[in-house]
Amino acid sequence: MADEIKTFKVTIDNITIDVAPGTTILNAARQIGGDVTPPAMCYYSKLEGSGGKCRTCLVEVAAGSIADPRPMPKLMASCRTTVMDGMVVKNITSEKVIDARNGVVEFLLINHPLDCPICDQAGECHLQDLGYDHGKAGTRYEFKRRTFEKEDIGPYIQLHMTRCILCYRCTYVADQITDKRVHGILDRGDHAEISTYISKAIDNDFSGNMIDVCPVGALTDKTFRFKNRVWFTKPVDAHRACENPKCCGKATLWLRGDEVFRVTARKDEWGEVQSYDARPDDPVGRGKTGWICNTCRFDKKKTSDWTIEGLTAISRHSVIGANKYAGLEMPNDTIKKVLNGRDPKLLMNIHNVSGVNNPNIHLSEIDRPSHKEDFAKSGEFVKGEGESTQWGLPKE
Ligand code: SF4
Ligand code: FES
Repeated sequence: MADEIKTFKVTIDNITIDVAPGTTILNAARQIGGDVTPPAMCYYSKLEGSGGKCRTCLVEVAAGSIADPRPMPKLMASCRTTVMDGMVVKNITSEKVIDARNGVVEFLLINHPLDCPICDQAGECHLQDLGYDHGKAGTRYEFKRRTFEKEDIGPYIQLHMTRCILCYRCTYVADQITDKRVHGILDRGDHAEISTYISKAIDNDFSGNMIDVCPVGALTDKTFRFKNRVWFTKPVDAHRACENPKCCGKATLWLRGDEVFRVTARKDEWGEVQSYDARPDDPVGRGKTGWICNTCRFDKKKTSDWTIEGLTAISRHSVIGANKYAGLEMPNDTIKKVLNGRDPKLLMNIHNVSGVNNPNIHLSEIDRPSHKEDFAKSGEFVKGEGESTQWGLPKE
């Protein structure tokens, strides 16, 4: 009789499942899905050795196993702790965990600038999501923030070191899927930073994947920089017969009308690059994870380069998912209070000062990228008698 396959029973937030031995608590929680899954800023299932750096995935182990049901004395990093048979784990049901996660987010935000309004990662940033869920309105930090000399790391990738949370994912990508790594984390402690060796450019043909794994806006696509907000673009799944056997040839195109603003790898519900069956011409199976090459990402910016399959399902991480932040209250009163009672009309009622927010203009009906003229035409974008519009156009 064939040996029965042994599985371990683990209970996470009162939900019990059977998982294979060797599964981490985080991956067991991902099998359950939904809110019981801890956030993960540094773990990336497709990158060997990742995890254990950021501490956002901490959980409470209320019972270690059937054999030893004692609770673990400290919160554990769920991405690095494997389950035992009979383990009981608390994530969102543990006050200690929520408190610790709030503290971790506070630490991550000590040096991270709050520049979401001008950051290209906004809308797709896992730290932004964590900030909404666990962040505090104020900071207790009184010291100077870290700053860095600007560094040019090549024509495709923009490095914003102040936004980096040192998760190491990009260095694992460079190690594991490109032929040569020319960047890494230099120095230690407060001085640690992502940098290239003697300011080399990162030009490997798979280097663009570092942009996709970066959980924050520290590595962004130079060809998309400041072109559009992600929530104004329409993501569609598309594929092409890429000649590079390591490239899966399947991507998400981010469109405005017919214009391809950006090409990214396809992401799964955890914000990670999706997995596929290996291509027949890829015997070593390196294409099993849906990494895409730089040619697909940066050079194929016409819809005619691709076969479009249909609309992309939006990941739970993105603010472009409908109603992600439904119910969030705007802090009208707070602003008034901190401005000593001054009416924050210009701050909060943006319809009055910018035609770009004119609710009568339906961006989805504009069959191309929108331009300032589209808003100026509405006639509601004029500041006042004799004054020019915000864009400096003469009043019609
Ligand atoms: S640049 Fe991004 S991916 Fe690389 S270590 Fe910093 S946060 Fe992580
Ligand atoms: S995801 Fe576990 S420590 Fe970062």
